[in-house]
Order: sequence, then structure tokens, then C-alpha cells
Amino acid sequence: MKILAIETSCDETAIAIFEAEGDQNTARFRVLGNALLSQVEKHREFGGVVPMLAKREHQKNLPHILDEALAEANVPLQDIDAIAVTAGPGLEPALWVGINFARALALVWDKPLVAVNHMEGHLLASLLEKTGEQFSISNVQFPILALLISGGHTELVLMKEWLRYELIGQTRDDAVGEAFDKVARMLSLPYPGGPEISRLAESARSVAAPEGRGFTLPRPMIDSGTCDFSFAGLKTAVLYLLKKNPDLSEKEKQHIAHEFENAVTEVLWKKTAQALKETGARTLVIGGGVSANTHIRRVFQEKMSSEFPDSSLQIPASSLTTDNAIMIALAGFYRALRKEFVSQPFDRLRASGNLSLAQKL
Ligand code: KG4
Ligand code: ZN
Repeated sequence: MKILAIETSCDETAIAIFEAEGDQNTARFRVLGNALLSQVEKHREFGGVVPMLAKREHQKNLPHILDEALAEANVPLQDIDAIAVTAGPGLEPALWVGINFARALALVWDKPLVAVNHMEGHLLASLLEKTGEQFSISNVQFPILALLISGGHTELVLMKEWLRYELIGQTRDDAVGEAFDKVARMLSLPYPGGPEISRLAESARSVAAPEGRGFTLPRPMIDSGTCDFSFAGLKTAVLYLLKKNPDLSEKEKQHIAHEFENAVTEVLWKKTAQALKETGARTLVIGGGVSANTHIRRVFQEKMSSEFPDSSLQIPASSLTTDNAIMIALAGFYRALRKEFVSQPFDRLRASGNLSLAQKL
């Protein structure tokens, strides 16, 4: 089955074309075309994503991205078997651009249309294994616990069988990526802040005794006994620290980034470990943009092998951690296998900014 997938939920305009074979337990994929345009530079001067600017850029770029993906794939549109599009969660003005584009393509070319939950894309992308040019998902051990960490989400989700989700824990306020971005902004670092904080924190770690050691930050809700998170207090603690210590040196900024990243990672691990114990999950996956973080990846790898040697950890390839259309094609394929198509004339399909994984599209 050849799927053309469209992703416009935030500030990446992306279209992927891929070919999938097999069923949900033996799926194999080949990426035929993958075009992505990041709008990061456009939003940087505003310190974050501006929804209406994202919408305008998606509108401007989608036709070119489509041409690029089709040319790379060398597949005419009539040979595509289904069109998949992100319906949520995300920024609604941005989502609508992708949805309208997908609807038009599906109507004109008379193709089935699949609505995709962006977080399902992140989750399934973490299960992909790459061998040469071929991707596959096989030998999956259920139950799967997913820690989904992105700019808009922080949640622990249990998947006991394919595509059925139970929410185990979630943030009560800010998402972890949002906290990275806001703290970066306080430290006058450019958007997106996650990679910038990571860079500073890794510099601090490479020094035996970093100058400015002594900044300490809270680990919010670490002993709450629940699998829920809270990151707003951590962000406010950084704000107070900066008010008390204006004119920080570069080394001191590195130390704050280091302490912040340690605090986030400790909380994420503690809650994930609790959820692993409570659910008896055999597989842990980490998905979403923040799963690109070097320190989080390292700590989770170490802790999983020392504390949960009988469960496996699956982390997406770095190129698939942040938003892309390959993960949307992947989730689209799993939904298409179940014939979950949007009925014609597709006007039931709407952008759903707060769509949750447990919710049916
Ligand atoms: O999944 P994603 O690309 O978009 C959303 O669906 O939100 O995630 C973007 C988030 C941003 O908050 C960004 O700062 C964060 O992922 N991020 C990182 C890293 N790379 C991206 N956070 C921490 N460390 C990183 N290396
Ligand atoms: Zn995302």
C-alpha cells in the first residue's frame, strides 16, 4: 500500500510517501519520498510559534513540498492508495491547512482519506527499526508503555494491544518541551530552546567542577505518588533564580541549564519507573521532540538496563524524533489496515487542537 501523508500541526510543513507491506505484526516500510520544510527561522524572532504565521507558511509551501515528495518518490498521484493527514493535536489554524489540502487531493484523485492523531505517529515511530533502506515494526512485546514528550504534550500512555490506549499520567500544567523552550527564553537562548539547553548542559557536564555549582532547582511532584507531572513550578523557580542572580556568566548559565535538565530527567524517570512497575509493561517507548535530548536518552538507557532488565527500551532514530510526515504515514497505514477512512465528502473531518490519544477521530 502506498500512502501519501501530510503533516502541518505546528511549524514543520512535511509530506512523505511510503510503501507499506504486511499486517500490524509484520509491517515493513520503504520511504519513497520525504520532503520537509521547517519554519523555525520564521518563528525565531517571535520567540515561539505564531499560529497565523504557521498557517500562512503552510499554505505557501504545501504545493512545493508535494511536488518535491512526488518527484523524489517518482510515483504519480494516481498510484497512491491512500492519503493520510494529521487532524490533531496541534495548532488549529495550521492543522486546517493540511486537512483542506488533503481533502482536496483525496476528492480530486478519488482516494481514501485517513485522519491521523499526531501523538500516535510519534508513538509508532519509536517502534520503527531500520535495516538498510527498509523500516519494520515486528516482535513488539505488549503491554507497551509510551512516554510522550513534546512541545505540547507530556503523558504516559499504556498500549495493551494495537492502537488502544489508556492514559496513565500527564502534565497538570506545562508540557516538558514548553518548559525547555520557556527556560531557554529566560536565558536569552533562541527558539526552539530544547537543543540549546541540551548544548549548554552537556558543556557543564564535560567540566569536572563547573563554576557556579550551587544552583539547585526543585523536582516538582517527584514524591506525589502519582504518575502525573508538573513543570510550571520548575520554570518559575528558574525565573526566581535569574531574578536573584542577574548578570550571569556563560558558565553559570551552563550550570542552570544542567540543573534544569537534571531536574526534568529525574522527574520523567521516577514517574516512568513507577508506571512500569504498576503496569508491568514489557516495552517502554519514548516519543516526541524532547526524546531527541541526549541526556534523557542516556539516563533512560542506563536505568532501563539496570532497573528493568527484562523490559526493552525503544527510542526513535534522531531524524524521527521531531515532527515529520513519515510518522503520519505510519499511523495512517495502521488505521488504513483497519479501514478507518473518513467518509466522503470528508466534511466530518475537522482540526482537533486538543485531540487526546484515547479519543476516537
Ligand atoms: O514533537 P515536536 O517536534 O513538536 C510538537 O509536537 O510539539 O516537539 C518540539 C519540542 C520543542 O519544545 C523543542 O524544544 C523540543 O521538542 N526539543 C528538545 C530537543 N529537541 C527538540 N527538547 C530537549 N532537548 C532536545 N534536544
Ligand atoms: Zn510532535
